[in-house]
Amino acid sequence: MSSGNLLSIDVFLGDLNRLLTNAEKAFGAAATLDALEEARVEFLGAKSGQLKAIQKQLGQISAQEKPVAGQNLNRVKDAIQAAFEAAKERMSVESIRGEVDPAFDRTVPGNPLRIGRLHPITQTIEELTDIMGRLGFTPARGTEVEDEHHNFGALNIPDDHPARDPLENFYLSLASKREGHTALLRSQTSTVQIRIMETTQPPIRVISLGRVYRPDTADPTHYPMFHQMEGLMVDRNVNLATLKTVLQLFATNYLGKSVSVRIRPSFFPFTEPSVEADYFWNGRWTEFGGAGIVDPNVFRAVGYDPEVYTGFAFGLGVERLCMIRHGITDIRDMYTNDVRFLRQF
Ligand code: PHE
Repeated sequence: MSSGNLLSIDVFLGDLNRLLTNAEKAFGAAATLDALEEARVEFLGAKSGQLKAIQKQLGQISAQEKPVAGQNLNRVKDAIQAAFEAAKERMSVESIRGEVDPAFDRTVPGNPLRIGRLHPITQTIEELTDIMGRLGFTPARGTEVEDEHHNFGALNIPDDHPARDPLENFYLSLASKREGHTALLRSQTSTVQIRIMETTQPPIRVISLGRVYRPDTADPTHYPMFHQMEGLMVDRNVNLATLKTVLQLFATNYLGKSVSVRIRPSFFPFTEPSVEADYFWNGRWTEFGGAGIVDPNVFRAVGYDPEVYTGFAFGLGVERLCMIRHGITDIRDMYTNDVRFLRQF
């Protein structure tokens, strides 16, 4: 480049500013995305764009003025680029507004998607499983269709005991015929104790959460199907104090620190001694299930030596635990599947 061809900085800056004005005008006038793209190529195009052309003139600027010229070139380049982006943004908003039915306002917030959730009883079961898991109890499962041996006999319930009465149980005539022995829907989860002990050696620490069935007329506190949480611990030296400690730890975790637990004498054929367990919550005592020290006859039925091992068992009503915590007053609400009710949990 010869010094005779020097370009004055004023001319250069004048050209730059004109370029910016023209580019802004062109972007503003573009009515479609295609027109805007054409304008972009004209001004910013890498090969033959107008900005490129001015950039080429940089070589004709004197060495002292070159830094100022370069700075201005960059400033104008950024400004043109920004003007292009702004035009593009405006156009995409306009195209969204323009192409659709004018009666349809896309700016109105949509209807929120209603996401499903777990049934309150399922949530309770998960929480109880979690709490008992932290106390070292593993979940176990039994079957809902049972035989008399597991539901009664092995649990030390004699043949003539009223708990076996057809009016107290759902006996299943078809299943009985098919399987060749009397079948019924289990009336308690204590059946799972037997199934576990038949196949496992002590020490044992299990819980079993599941459905049980009794032909009760549905009312606010009864339903012909409900859930129990059965707990079983067998080891050397398990006693009533162990049981009460576990029940207390459970209540503290599920209902809160200040809950006290009390046990009252009771009777179950499969535990000796037997107790009812109550907790003191919200100002009153509420019964939440039965419990006791596993009867030696039950150990004999599953082949454990009652001289070596002792154990406790408890069976708590899951619905009651769920209802008391959530202030539900009618058990039937949980099984009518009214979404207005279920949505609250
Ligand atoms: N199975 C008893 C019931 O359904 C509860 C229970 C379980 C009692 C374990 C003692 C031991 O009422």
